[in-house]
Amino acid sequence: MIKKIGVMTGGGDCPGLNAVLRAVAKTAMFKYGWEVIGFKDGYRGMVINDYMIFGPDDASGILDKGGTILGTSNKDNPFNFMIEKDGKIEFKDMSDQVIENVNSLGIDAMIIIGGDGTLTSARDLYRKGLKVVGVPKTIDNDLSGTDYTFGFMTAVDTATEAIDKLHSTAESHHRVMILEVMGRYAGWIAIESGIAGGADVILIPEIPYDINKVVEKILERKKAGKHFSIVVVAEGAKSINGEMVIKKIVEHSPDPIRLGGIGHKIAEEIQELSGIETRVTVLGHLQRGGKPIPYDRILSTRFGVAAVELVKNGEFGYMVCLDDNCISKVPLDEAVGKIKTVPPDGELVRIAKSIGVSFGD
Ligand code: F6P
Repeated sequence: MIKKIGVMTGGGDCPGLNAVLRAVAKTAMFKYGWEVIGFKDGYRGMVINDYMIFGPDDASGILDKGGTILGTSNKDNPFNFMIEKDGKIEFKDMSDQVIENVNSLGIDAMIIIGGDGTLTSARDLYRKGLKVVGVPKTIDNDLSGTDYTFGFMTAVDTATEAIDKLHSTAESHHRVMILEVMGRYAGWIAIESGIAGGADVILIPEIPYDINKVVEKILERKKAGKHFSIVVVAEGAKSINGEMVIKKIVEHSPDPIRLGGIGHKIAEEIQELSGIETRVTVLGHLQRGGKPIPYDRILSTRFGVAAVELVKNGEFGYMVCLDDNCISKVPLDEAVGKIKTVPPDGELVRIAKSIGVSFGD
């Protein structure tokens, strides 16, 4: 018999987090009469026992809000938690503390909303006995076990709007305009926004590019009377004989590498090799913020309700997922540890190539 559940949002923020919280809290409180506790700032709140109790109004008015009302963190791992002691930094396994905090609050089950890092820890906490259900979140759409994560389509929408706007300057000034988008080691945001925005070149981590082939495409267009080109480049893209461009290393983060800078690198090369004026826009965190589009609000709501139903049915150790547009579940074990990347010979790449998009290969 469930009486009280806990919920937490971990990892980078993402449009739709509040919509999931709303769906979880409304279903749990009003359909089943359970109490809902929200831990603050991801695993940090579970370690230090920082939480809020959802009141009847806390799940209202948040459907369209970006970010997460609970706060989040992409730096805290409960199994390797950073502690400052006498001015020194130490790492400690705080997973027992997490389980003790959950138990002492009388929480019967946890719904953990996050990407690969957050859900890997959720899987490990489940192995230690915590009753957990996961919800897949990331703008990168790189989680195995689900066709889509919520937040991704909003990021694609933002990137597509940026491409639409870049077209104006590209056409008017006869320039090459480059848009660098996020996505970590997967090219989902780049390929989907690139197709939706009508990009001429799309560079993704899954297909290493040859800069000469990229320039060839741009010059071919010029010869055909098209004096501008739009290039969408994923932050994780790399050349056939190069490496990904790292922007910075975030010390003490479970995933310390932050990518960024590929846009400027290829801009210089394209300008030099083609002789065409080239500009770069790095879209950055605009992709993570703001209102979720309707698709993500609906997906978030479907995921949130489904997570509560799994708890109700006593089905733990699963992540809710989207399988062929139906809500389903997948063991957390299968959902984490390996990322889902764009198949280089898959349908999206094939249709883009059919309409003349170059991947620089
Ligand atoms: O995983 C989401 C994401 O936005 C990635 O696309 C990006 O590489 C990373 O997070 C940026 O992280 P931070 O907000 O820590 O700079």
